[in-house]
Amino acid sequence: MAISDLIGSSPKFRALMTLVEMVSPVDSAVLIQGETGTGKEVIARAIHEASPRRNHRFVALNCAAIPSALLESELFGHERGAFTGACTQTKGRFQMADGGTLFLDEIGDMPLELQPKLLRALQEQEFEPLGSTQTVRVNVRVVAATNQDLGQLVSKKLFRVDLFYRLNVIPICLPPLRERVQDILPLTEFFVAKFAARLNKPIDLIPDEVVAALQAHDWPGNIRELQNFIERAVLFSPGSVLRLPLDFKQTVKQSSETASRTLAEADRAHILETLQQTDWMIGGQDGAANRLGLARTTLIYKMRKLGIETRRSLRTRPIRQLADEQCYAAANC
Ligand SMILES: Nc1ncnc2c1ncn2[C@@H]1O[C@H](COP(=O)(O)OP(=O)(O)OP(=O)(O)O)[C@@H](O)[C@H]1O
Ligand SMILES: [Mg+2]
Repeated sequence: MAISDLIGSSPKFRALMTLVEMVSPVDSAVLIQGETGTGKEVIARAIHEASPRRNHRFVALNCAAIPSALLESELFGHERGAFTGACTQTKGRFQMADGGTLFLDEIGDMPLELQPKLLRALQEQEFEPLGSTQTVRVNVRVVAATNQDLGQLVSKKLFRVDLFYRLNVIPICLPPLRERVQDILPLTEFFVAKFAARLNKPIDLIPDEVVAALQAHDWPGNIRELQNFIERAVLFSPGSVLRLPLDFKQTVKQSSETASRTLAEADRAHILETLQQTDWMIGGQDGAANRLGLARTTLIYKMRKLGIETRRSLRTRPIRQLADEQCYAAANC
């Protein structure tokens, strides 16, 4: 993914894009930290794509997905006969990434015993493949990522402090989606356009209420969770208007921004959630008024006071064209 393909418009996102543009041309190591689904891998790829290394390979290795006994060979390669089953000489990821970028995902899972060899490869850009006495020289930029607190692993002596400092030359912290609510609308528009095209569903309107409900959600799985959710919503929307699945639950955000929400805002979110569950039916046995334990007229009065329209909002926004959507990062920070 190139920088221009990344979607977002919040000040935090724009600051992130500025940082990515600044660090891309240099060769210093980058450490990306952030919760699951915040976009660590897409940022690593964007750094590579914006760097002078873009014509060489971006090689990714998930340190948590490879058994520790095999990790050394995966990283540095091995000679024929270096261990049982090593029938041929094999290049490791460092050599594959020569001239390009090596992305070490889940770096917190790097076994302690392998860390000194990785440190030397980072510092000296040289290493010996497993079972070999020949030193191999490479030119690799390393970008590492983790959703663990590496500082804490260091204090528990589970991660070497020297390796931590070597990787953490350029730290990039990805904020969770709940701390950049402004990104939810452009991301939603982007994912709706993507899945509408892929699933051949003619969705072209996103009601304001749907946007408000998405913005009030906690998104613990961050952008990945939003993406998967929008795919489901597009699939189950009956017409050309995006509808939220009835089981969608809003969770109260933990951020300071939400902590300061007024009672009226909390009321509004609760009423909107109930209206979505009843598909905007106010009266009757299964209507929102009944569910909220209010008289129908009281609910209508409350809705008017809180600025919620009494029938399905047709104050909807047309989805922007994909080309427009891809320029959000350009704004100043
Ligand atoms: N700014 C963005 N614009 C568009 N899509 C994005 C953006 N950031 C992330 N995504 C999408 O969100 C999903 C999760 O991103 P990614 O895999 O990079 O997250 P991650 O932080 O590496 O997650 P994990 O910790 O679980 O490995 C991907 O499908 C990615 O394409
Ligand atoms: Mg990842």
